[in-house]
Amino acid sequence: MANVLVTGGAGYIGSHACKALAAAGFTPVTFDNFVTGWRDAVKFGPMVEGDLLNCTDVDAAFAEYKPVAVMHFAALSQVGDSMTQPGLYWRNNVQGSLNLIEAAIAANCKNFVFSSTCATYGDHDNVVFDEDTAQLPINAYGASKRAIEEMLRDFEGAHGLKHVIFRYFNVAGADPDGEVGEFHQPETHLVPLMLDAIDGKRDALTIFGTDYDTPDGTCIRDYVHVCDLIDAHVLGLNWLLDGKPSRVFNLGSGAGFSVREVIDRSREVTNRAVPIKEGARRPGDCTKLVSGSTRAAAELGWVPKRSTMSQMISDAWRWHQTGHYNS
Ligand code: UFG
Repeated sequence: MANVLVTGGAGYIGSHACKALAAAGFTPVTFDNFVTGWRDAVKFGPMVEGDLLNCTDVDAAFAEYKPVAVMHFAALSQVGDSMTQPGLYWRNNVQGSLNLIEAAIAANCKNFVFSSTCATYGDHDNVVFDEDTAQLPINAYGASKRAIEEMLRDFEGAHGLKHVIFRYFNVAGADPDGEVGEFHQPETHLVPLMLDAIDGKRDALTIFGTDYDTPDGTCIRDYVHVCDLIDAHVLGLNWLLDGKPSRVFNLGSGAGFSVREVIDRSREVTNRAVPIKEGARRPGDCTKLVSGSTRAAAELGWVPKRSTMSQMISDAWRWHQTGHYNS
């Protein structure tokens, strides 16, 4: 079975990728420094503990496993932190990716699937983003991901590195089998924080800003189920292995939900009250991020199956109540 090197395979999205890759007949090799990842989440293939900032670790992983492709998830990804600690984001995300790309080229592994973000687009008034929307990030996280996208293009030009770039909108939900799920410490994402507030693990969910230029004053995001997102990655990997050209795809459901709408839907799904507080805006937050995902559907044949808000909250709620990692 062909090996795929999955950086960040012990994280939320990477662990779901490993499960899907194994189901599709690949061997996922998790490469993770376990700063934000969990050993308990590595269930579907071998694990390499290493750091992308350490070239020896990266080269050793390619030498041992000879992967046919890389899926690169490992990154720091908190918009708020990226505003206060930009150096951390530029070093970890950009330098780490450069080390990985150079190691892949040296090992003649030239198929690269990259986890990028709609945060590379920034704020555009009332636009449904397509892949040609100008990339004008307003936070260091988005800027670091845009830089890596540019790096991939340069390395294709010079060294033939074929790549598929996925720009994610907001990922939510969990594996319906409950084998892996979302578990960050500290948690910053809306859905898990809200579920914590619902079952009393925190006092209340703070709504970050109620004075945005949206119908109810709260930010609008496009939520996509983690399993649907990963289905697209497997399609993207096969796209590259079939020799098709490098491509960028947005991954979202195309529907925007405000923070208040997500809260309302959670109340319906869990049949429990959601304690909330209204707070100030969080620096770096865009007003509205909604995807046009027609390209992924048309070219990859991607069909999201679980990306309704109710399904995402219901899968996240099941995992929240039954699943967690200890180490
Ligand atoms: N929010 C709150 N209260 C909270 C947490 C979040 O009101 O306690 C709001 C945020 O302000 C935002 C929305 O809920 O409007 C979603 O916030 P998340 O932190 O869940 O997600 P982000 O939109 O900030 O960022 C996420 C990922 C990024 C990715 C981005 C793409 O963390 O890596 O989606 O939209 F780039």
